Amino acid sequence: MDNLRQTLKDLKIVPVLTPVSVEKTVEMTRAMAAGGINSVEITLRTDCAFDAIKAVQEADLGVQVGVGTIINAELVHKVADMGVDFAVTPGITPAVLSAAKERELNVLPGVSGPSELMLGLEYGYTNFKLFPAAVVNGLAMLKALAGPFPDICFCPTGGVSESNANEFLSLPNVVCVGGSWMLPKAAIESGDWNTITEISRRAMSL
Ligand code: 3PG
Repeated sequence: MDNLRQTLKDLKIVPVLTPVSVEKTVEMTRAMAAGGINSVEITLRTDCAFDAIKAVQEADLGVQVGVGTIINAELVHKVADMGVDFAVTPGITPAVLSAAKERELNVLPGVSGPSELMLGLEYGYTNFKLFPAAVVNGLAMLKALAGPFPDICFCPTGGVSESNANEFLSLPNVVCVGGSWMLPKAAIESGDWNTITEISRRAMSL
C-alpha cells in the first residue's frame, strides 16, 4: 500500500472546514482533535483562509493540516511553500497535477467519474477524492468504478454525513471520507466547541 493511502486510512475522516475567522478555525480544529480527529482540510473559500492555515500549523494541535479548494497551479505552489501536509482539489486539470508532481505535494485530486480518473492515472495518481459524492450517486458510482479500476481508492466528499458515512466507509475502495457534518454552523457561531468534540468523537467511532 502506498504511503498516502495508508495515511488516508489512518485519518478515516477528513473534516472539511471553511474558516470563518482565524481564531475560530484554531478552536474548531482543537475541538475536533479533542474528539480524536487527526486531520483537517481547510478550504480557501474565505479571505482569512491563508492566515487561518498558518495559525493552525503554529498551534501544533497534533492534526495533519491539509488545504482544499486547490483549483489552479498557482495555489499548488502557494500551499507547498507553506508546508501543508496535504492538498485536496475539487476537480482535475493537467496544470494542477503537473505542479503537484513537481512539488512532490501529497494531493488528493477530485474526480466525479471515469474519464477524470483516467487523466489522474496518467499522472500516476491512485488515490482520489470522489466529489461531489452525493450528487454523482456516490455509493453506486464507487461500486461501478471498482470494476475497471480495482486498485484505485477514494475519499468520497460532498454530502457525506453521520448517517451515511458508514455505508461509504464499508466499501472496499473507500479509504476515508470527507465532510463538514462535525462542524454545525450553530455551534461555530455560538462557540459551542463541546458539541463539535462530541460529533467528532462519534465520527471517529463509526
Ligand atoms: C464541500 O464542498 O464543502 C465539501 O465537499 C464538504 O461537503 P459537505 O458540506 O456536504 O460535507
